[in-house]
Amino acid sequence: MKACRAVKISDNVCWVGAIDWDIRNFHGYSTGRGTTYNAYLIMAEKVTLVDAVKAPFREELLARIRSVIEPEKIDYIISNHSEMDHTGCLPAMIDLVKPEKVFASKKGVEALEAHFGLKDITAVEDGGEIDLGNMKVTCLETRLLHWPDSMVSYLAEDKVLFSQDGFGMHLASNERFDDELDDYVLYHEASKYFANILLLYSHIAGKVIKRIEESGLEIETIAPDHGPVWRSKIPWIIDLYKKWSARELKRKAIIVYDSMWDSTRMMARAIEDGLTEGGVHVKVLNATASGRAEVVTELIDAGALIVGSPTLNNQIFPTVADILTYIKGLKPKGLVGASFGSYGWSGEAVRLLNAWLEDMKIELVGEGVRINYVPKANDLERCRQLGLDVAKRIEDLPDPLIVTTVCT
Ligand code: FEO
Repeated sequence: MKACRAVKISDNVCWVGAIDWDIRNFHGYSTGRGTTYNAYLIMAEKVTLVDAVKAPFREELLARIRSVIEPEKIDYIISNHSEMDHTGCLPAMIDLVKPEKVFASKKGVEALEAHFGLKDITAVEDGGEIDLGNMKVTCLETRLLHWPDSMVSYLAEDKVLFSQDGFGMHLASNERFDDELDDYVLYHEASKYFANILLLYSHIAGKVIKRIEESGLEIETIAPDHGPVWRSKIPWIIDLYKKWSARELKRKAIIVYDSMWDSTRMMARAIEDGLTEGGVHVKVLNATASGRAEVVTELIDAGALIVGSPTLNNQIFPTVADILTYIKGLKPKGLVGASFGSYGWSGEAVRLLNAWLEDMKIELVGEGVRINYVPKANDLERCRQLGLDVAKRIEDLPDPLIVTTVCT
């Protein structure tokens, strides 16, 4: 671990995190580009570690700290978020470092005790300050963003916001800063992270950003717990967070489906034709090929969700049920939707899909298209018409390409 070194991110702060090149599944979220677990060292009179890393990466964290200072010289640890990717090695770090104090939010104190039996954690009030001698850290609670314990902390001397999961992304890289990475990758991974982790709490994200802006904190660096440190594209990522929080939807539709013998796939493609003809940008996502995280990522700005499933043993297809369960939990707001599917004999899938969509407060366009066995020309025409009908319902939404404008 001698090769692991800290990276200076501001006058008094170093990144001392760990890079996880291998992870491909983060509690059900596909992480094709791996991730990082970021931790930061504030070189104040009271040397302070902000967050830690997942348990197996403790040696990497220690090696990076040792490239700056012996870990035993750390005085304080601030735990902004108690999820185990940031606290897994915290008990071992406390044993080794024996810090004078460990700080967390009030809910964080409860969570750290519940997870690890840690006691003697000092609770920081919302808006409270931690005195590091020659510097101060201010803590702001961000409850439910995305755990009840979550808070962010701010080092005024360096204008650094330690934002825990907020503004993060699952992206393993040796590049530590936003301006060292491709804009497309930044957009894709940041939007994927927001959609899969923060979508359910998007209304809270909007309020937190407003609070930070109104508090007048000057921010030159955003140091999240995953992915690159933001130093050059802060207005861009904040603007994207505002848009995603406000659910600014676009003239874009997602068709999610699965198929047993190609009939439902043929229907999906005919619906795609109708949507395209109606001027809508379409993503056709096979549930088996795409997986839940990819589907939800596309939903971050889509105005319509159209779901197709064959009937299997009187039910919807399991891969489609998986994705619907996942989407339902994240509660995307403002969508219109529709359903379709082929069947052999009983044919419950479309009725069940409509029930799912209505339960998710998705406004249905029509009753759905349900066809027996293999679609004929007139069946496919009904599908195309469904696509046109959905397109008509979202025709006033803006073009999605505006969102992907690069940040440079
Ligand atoms: Fe990166 Fe909510 O943990």
